Amino acid sequence: MAIPRITVLVSGRGSNLGALIDAECRGRLGGTIAAVLSNRADAPALAIAGAGGIATQVIEHRGYEDRQAFDAALAAAIDASEPDLVVLAGFMRVLGATFVERYQGRMLNIHPSLLPAYPGLDTHRRALADGVRVHGCTAHFVTADVDHGPIVMQGAVAVHEDDDEAALAARVLAVEHQVLPAAVRAFCEKRLVIAGRGVRVRGEVVPAAAFVVPSAVVAEPSMSTAAPALDLTRPA
Ligand code: GRF
Repeated sequence: MAIPRITVLVSGRGSNLGALIDAECRGRLGGTIAAVLSNRADAPALAIAGAGGIATQVIEHRGYEDRQAFDAALAAAIDASEPDLVVLAGFMRVLGATFVERYQGRMLNIHPSLLPAYPGLDTHRRALADGVRVHGCTAHFVTADVDHGPIVMQGAVAVHEDDDEAALAARVLAVEHQVLPAAVRAFCEKRLVIAGRGVRVRGEVVPAAAFVVPSAVVAEPSMSTAAPALDLTRPA
């Protein structure tokens, strides 16, 4: 059977791309990264791809007069690489509905929050501002409704009392690097079944280390830790 081909779209740093390359090198990706496409010529991710011996191409969005023209050029480059799967790994352009439909059911994204909480940008800042105790990341299929596609896998981390945005982002990123390769592998091994808004994953799911138990709640002396008494007797 042919090895599934993966085309990765990037815009910046490329640490998730690095995790995918690392997984492929260790025989744990279930596919081969055939091409890396960037909408920015200055993306550090391009050097990471180059070091991994992967073909790269830059399609600068600024070079096109509107989104449709950019999307068409991007689709042409993707199709030339003949992928079975397209992965958005820190790709920071919103894609039009026509483009998204073209790759429906074969395009994954990694998002730095536990969707459906915090779609969009600044997820870590917003999570801290809300005082959430558990945060994380989501690998999901891409649909025209940005950050709302069927969820494949998630990884959770505890939010610490003294976290700032950078500390929380770093903790989530480490989990992204486990969740995205695991989701890609499950796709390549044909273990994902989209069922409405959800996705069934057959077989091995996420590495256990992706799940971090939230920090323990320390009881104040005034707080009772005893369970409230419940009266479970039913009227006769
Ligand atoms: C990641 O946090 C990813 O979830 C988000 O953009 C960031 C990209 O980081 N979509 P990198 O380029 O993979 O290092």
